[in-house]
Amino acid sequence: MPSLSPKSARLQQSPIRKLAPLARAAEARGTDVIYLNIGQPDMPTPPEMIAELHGLALNRLAYAPSEGLLQSREAWSAFFASWGIDFSPDEILVTAGASEAITFALSVVAGGGDEVLVFEPCYTNYLSFAAQADVKMVPITLKVEDGYHFGDIDRLRSCITPKTRAILLCNPSNPTGTVYTEAELEAVARVAVERDLFVICDEVYREFVFDSGRVRSFTRFADLAQRIIVVDSVSKRFNACGVRIGCMATKNREVLDVTLRFCQARLSVATAEQLMVVPMLANGRPYSERLCVEYQARRDAVFAGLAAIHGVKPHRSEGSFYTMTRLPIESCEDFAVWLLRDFTHDGETICLAPGAGFYVTPGLGIDEVRIAFMYDAATMTRAMKILDAAVGAYPGRLAAVAASS
Ligand SMILES: Cc1ncc(COP(=O)(O)O)c(C=O)c1O
Repeated sequence: MPSLSPKSARLQQSPIRKLAPLARAAEARGTDVIYLNIGQPDMPTPPEMIAELHGLALNRLAYAPSEGLLQSREAWSAFFASWGIDFSPDEILVTAGASEAITFALSVVAGGGDEVLVFEPCYTNYLSFAAQADVKMVPITLKVEDGYHFGDIDRLRSCITPKTRAILLCNPSNPTGTVYTEAELEAVARVAVERDLFVICDEVYREFVFDSGRVRSFTRFADLAQRIIVVDSVSKRFNACGVRIGCMATKNREVLDVTLRFCQARLSVATAEQLMVVPMLANGRPYSERLCVEYQARRDAVFAGLAAIHGVKPHRSEGSFYTMTRLPIESCEDFAVWLLRDFTHDGETICLAPGAGFYVTPGLGIDEVRIAFMYDAATMTRAMKILDAAVGAYPGRLAAVAASS
């Protein structure tokens, strides 16, 4: 048989989805599974968006312009303006979700084994996007004990080599829920200017900041304007992951021009979907703000539930709709499998995302899990009780913790 490309070997199986067959088997045995592993919002897509789709007067679904329909780019521009972020429609390219925008951004600023810095644990698909763009992800490891903050600017500087081209940052963070501080953003900005780097900011969770906090966008650093590439998406803020509409925005004309060539090669993004999100982009802030209140209640339920588990010291997620935590378990991968194969608590079990898949560095995260807040607060509380019972019953619990309980 002919062999496959080296790039294919670098694409990892999704750590979030690989437990799905075991979860289905548990359900087939009659066990209810609470899925804490996947960030697929549970609440309905806004009816206004669905109504807009039904009301579209389209009699021919032609290719849209490669850069995106003007109405769509104007709507994104207005949306950014509502956050005090200045991007004119001609500084915006509509993409098939943030996923495509990140892949394009990486491909445009780096390649041929160039390096891009990323904080780990990170969104797992960054690694696959990097493999597609032939970019090496260089991790800056963050620790749960620090709330997954990096604090010190020298940590950034020490990871930069002559091959570093950009810093990729997700704020608020999937998977950790970290919202980077003003000082951290300034440090990234300073290093980017000092070392001549691009900054790719993934702000798909911008609305979801808890405890009345706020994400400060990089776009306010005037001396960074030519280096900043913002990627965004309607997936999470409007419960509309299946719409597959996102964008890339930058003031850098060269980046725009080259990215447009990538856009032209894939022809266009779906016409009807671009149009159906226009009104929500213009008027959707109150909707997303209501979601944020709901996610905060869920975050509180998860934090309280984790804090009650012997041997767990949770950090308080500051935003997005995830948290990561360390468990007093030798291997969370084995634990996640055991939960689905061998454990039930009053007829239920939970599906967790093992932490190792969120790290670039092999061997890290084996005693961590990511939890997504995709059920109401009462269900999240029940899920944490199931986790508590499971940690207590698991044969692979850390001996020291087991002995002290
Ligand atoms: C941090 C982050 N960036 C990008 C994406 C991809 O978003 P989209 O659905 O817009 O492709 C996700 C999806 O989960 C995400 O969590």
